[in-house]
Amino acid sequence: MTDGVERLRVELGDRGYEIVVGPRLIENAGLEIQPLLRRRQVVIVSDETVAPHYLPQLHDSLSEAGIVHHTVLLPPGEETKDLDHFGQLAEEILGFGIERGTMLVALGGGVVGDVTGFAGATLLRGIDFVQIPTTLLAQVDSSVGGKTGINTRLGKNLIGAFYQPRLVLADTTVLTTLPRRELLAGYAEIAKYGLIRDAGFFAWLEDEGRAVCNLAPAALRRAVMTSCAMKAEIVAGDEREEGDRALLNFGHTFGHALETETGFSSRLLHGEAVGLGMVLAFDFAVRLGLVGAEESQRVRRHLDEMGLPTRLSMIGLTGIPAERLLAHMGKDKKVRDGRITLILPRRIGDVFVMKDAPRDELRDFLAEAA
Ligand SMILES: NC(=O)c1ccc[n+]([C@@H]2O[C@H](COP(=O)([O-])OP(=O)(O)OC[C@H]3O[C@@H](n4cnc5c(N)ncnc54)[C@H](O)[C@@H]3O)[C@@H](O)[C@H]2O)c1
Repeated sequence: MTDGVERLRVELGDRGYEIVVGPRLIENAGLEIQPLLRRRQVVIVSDETVAPHYLPQLHDSLSEAGIVHHTVLLPPGEETKDLDHFGQLAEEILGFGIERGTMLVALGGGVVGDVTGFAGATLLRGIDFVQIPTTLLAQVDSSVGGKTGINTRLGKNLIGAFYQPRLVLADTTVLTTLPRRELLAGYAEIAKYGLIRDAGFFAWLEDEGRAVCNLAPAALRRAVMTSCAMKAEIVAGDEREEGDRALLNFGHTFGHALETETGFSSRLLHGEAVGLGMVLAFDFAVRLGLVGAEESQRVRRHLDEMGLPTRLSMIGLTGIPAERLLAHMGKDKKVRDGRITLILPRRIGDVFVMKDAPRDELRDFLAEAA
C-alpha cells in the first residue's frame, strides 16, 4: 500500500467499515475491494466529468484484481438526483444481470455517492456498495455515515435510506482536478467540524487552512482524517439522527433557506451555503446573547480569508423579505410542528440544538442581515 495512507473504522457492529485516506488509492482499489466481494462482479457508477480523469485507473485496478466490472455514467450535477435519472440508473444496473452478491462502486462527488447508495439500499432489496468520493465535500462528509437519497420536486433528499457503505476510499490525489470553488465549498464542511466540537482543530485550520486548500499532502490528510474521525464517531453514536448527529447540521438550516432562494443552482454551492449559514448562526447567537461577538468575528474572518462568501451581499442576496427566508427555513426536514430547530453555538467548538427558536427575533435578524 502507498505511503501516507491512514485508516479509521466506523464502529457500527456488523455494518462497520473502514475509511481509507491518502494518495493514489484508486490505483489500489481492486485490492481493497476484493476481500469484501461475495461475487467477483462490480458495477461502477460515475459521472461524465469525473470518468475521463479516473475511470481508466479504476478499471485497470479492478481488472488486475480479477474483478468483472460494468460502468454506468450519469450527467454531472444535482439534476441527476431526480426520480427519472434514478429509474434509468436502476434499470441499467439490473440490466447487467446483477445478483445480491454484486457490489456497486460510487466514483464521484456527493451526487454520485447519494444516488449510488440509494441504488444499493433498494436494488434486489439491498446490495453492498463502496464509496470512492472525488470531491472534498464528499471525502469529509457525504461518503461517510450512510445517508443516501434522491430529490423530488417537493424538496431535496426526501426519498432515501440510511444505508452504510462497505468501504470508503478517499483518494486525496483526485482533488488536483477539482475546481477551486468546489474545493472551498468542501472546506466549509471541514471548518464545521472545528466549530461544532473541536476548538483546537479550528485554531489549527486558522493556521493551516491555506495549506489544506493548496493540497499540501500532510495538511490535507490531517484535515480529511480529523473530519472523517469526528463524523465516524458521531454516526457510531447516533446512526439515525435521533440525538447528536443533528449537530452535524450546523449552518444547514440558514444555508438551506439560501439554497432554496437560489434554486439549488450553481449560484450557491451547498458547501458555500453551509459556510454562510454557520456565520449567520454565530451572528444570531450573538444577538441572543449566547456567544461573544469576537467569536463570531473570528469565524467570519477565517472563512473570508479562505475565500468563502460570508455575507449575503457577496452573493447578491440582500433585501430578501425575512418572511420568505423564514418560510424556507420552516420547510427544513428538522421542523417539528412548524417550530424551527436551529443548531447554535455557545462558543467555537461547542454547539447545541435549540428547539423552537424564537421566531420574532429570527425574523428581525433576517430582515437586518446583509
Ligand atoms: N449523504 C450525505 O450525508 C450528504 C452530505 C452532504 C451533502 N450531500 C449531497 O452531496 C451533493 C453535493 O456533493 P458535491 O459537492 O460533491 O457535488 P457533486 O457531486 O455535484 O460534484 C461537484 C462537481 O464536481 C465534479 N467533480 C467531482 N469530482 C471531481 C474531480 N475530482 N475533479 C473534477 N471534477 C470533479 C462533478 O462532476 C460535479 O460537476 C448534494 O446532492 C448533497 O445533497 C450528501
